[in-house]
Amino acid sequence: MKGLVLSGGKGTRLRPLTFTSAKQLLPVANTPVLFRVIAAIRDAGISEIGVVIGDTGEEIKAAAGDGSRWGVRLTYIPQPAPLGLAHAVKISRDYLGDERFVMFLGDNVIQGGIHTLIRQFAESNYNSQVVLTEVADPRQYGVAVLDERGHIVRLIEKPKEPPSNLALVGIYMFDKHIFEAVESIKPSWRNELEITDAIQWLVNHGYTVFPYVHKGWWVDTGKAVDMLEANSLVLSELTPSIEGLVDAESVVDSRVTVSAGAQIINSVVRGPTIIGENTRIVNSYVGPFTSIYHHCLIENAEIERCIVLENCRISDPPARIQDSLIGRNVTVTRSSHKPRAYKLTLGDYSHLELH
Ligand code: G1P
Repeated sequence: MKGLVLSGGKGTRLRPLTFTSAKQLLPVANTPVLFRVIAAIRDAGISEIGVVIGDTGEEIKAAAGDGSRWGVRLTYIPQPAPLGLAHAVKISRDYLGDERFVMFLGDNVIQGGIHTLIRQFAESNYNSQVVLTEVADPRQYGVAVLDERGHIVRLIEKPKEPPSNLALVGIYMFDKHIFEAVESIKPSWRNELEITDAIQWLVNHGYTVFPYVHKGWWVDTGKAVDMLEANSLVLSELTPSIEGLVDAESVVDSRVTVSAGAQIINSVVRGPTIIGENTRIVNSYVGPFTSIYHHCLIENAEIERCIVLENCRISDPPARIQDSLIGRNVTVTRSSHKPRAYKLTLGDYSHLELH
C-alpha cells in the first residue's frame, strides 16, 4: 500500500500564523501536525508516501525533506490550485498506480495509530473504507449514512440537516476504482471536486464502501481553538522526560518534558507541558497543557494552556497569558514608559482579547 497526505490549502482560519507558515507545520506538543501524520502512516507499515502540496509547497518540502528521518520515501505532488480532495486524488494517479492506498488529511490529529484500520483494509476486498467518528455538530463535516448491514449508502458534504452524527474524519482507503470516480464527478457549489461525491459515485456503481468507526478523540485543526485542543490532548499522551536542566529552586511535576538544552530556573512548571530545546523559563509559572517551542525566553510570567512557537520572548506581562497561540519571533513585554497603554504591532487578522 501507498500513502497520500494532503498538505495544500491556505489555512485562512489560522491567520495571521498562516501568512508566514503552512498550517500543517504548526506544532502540537512541539511536533508539526504533518510530521505526526507521516509517522502514523509509517507506523502502519507504509514506506511510500505522496504529499500533495499547494502554495506553501516549498516550505513543506524544506521541513519534511525526502522522508529519510522517518525511514520513508516522500514524493511531492504539486496541486496547481486548491480544487478539492478528489482533485488531489486525480493528480496523484501516476504516483499511486494501481496500488491500494490510504489518504490522510495533513491537518488532522487523531488518537492512537492507524495500523488497525490499515490492516483491516489490506486484508479485505472492500473497494474503499472510510474512517468515521461520532461528533456533536456534524454540519461542519462530511456525514455518512449506513444501512443495516453496516455498508455506507450515502454521504453528504456539510449537510444543513445531518442524517446521522457520523462524520468523515479525513482518513480514507481506496483501490484503483476511485480514479474512475474522480474522473466522473462534477465540481460542487464551492467549485471543488469533493471526495464525498467520489465515494458516493463508488456506492452508486456497486462498489463496496465500508466504515471504520474511530472511538478515540480526533481534531481537525482548522482554527486556533482546535490547535489548543489538539495540543492538550497530545500532551496528555506524551511520555515525559527531563533532558534539560531544572534548578533546585524549581518545581516541575512528573508530566513535564524538558527538552535538551532547556533551563527551568526558579519556576513552577505543571504538566502535561513540554518545554522545547534551548528554551529558558525564569521566575515563572508555566501551567498545564502548554507547549513552548525552541529558543524561547519566558521570564517573570505566568502562562497556561498555550502554544508558543520558536524564538519568542515573554517577559513581565501584567497578567497571566492563557488559551493563546503565539507565533514565531514574538515579543510580549511590559514597558515602564508613560503613557500606561497597550502598544501593539499585530499582524493582519490578529485576534486579541484584553481585560
Ligand atoms: C474535508 C472533507 C469532509 C471531512 C473533513 C474532515 O472538509 O470534505 O468531508 O469531514 O475534511 O476534516 P474540509 O476540510 O475540506 O472542509
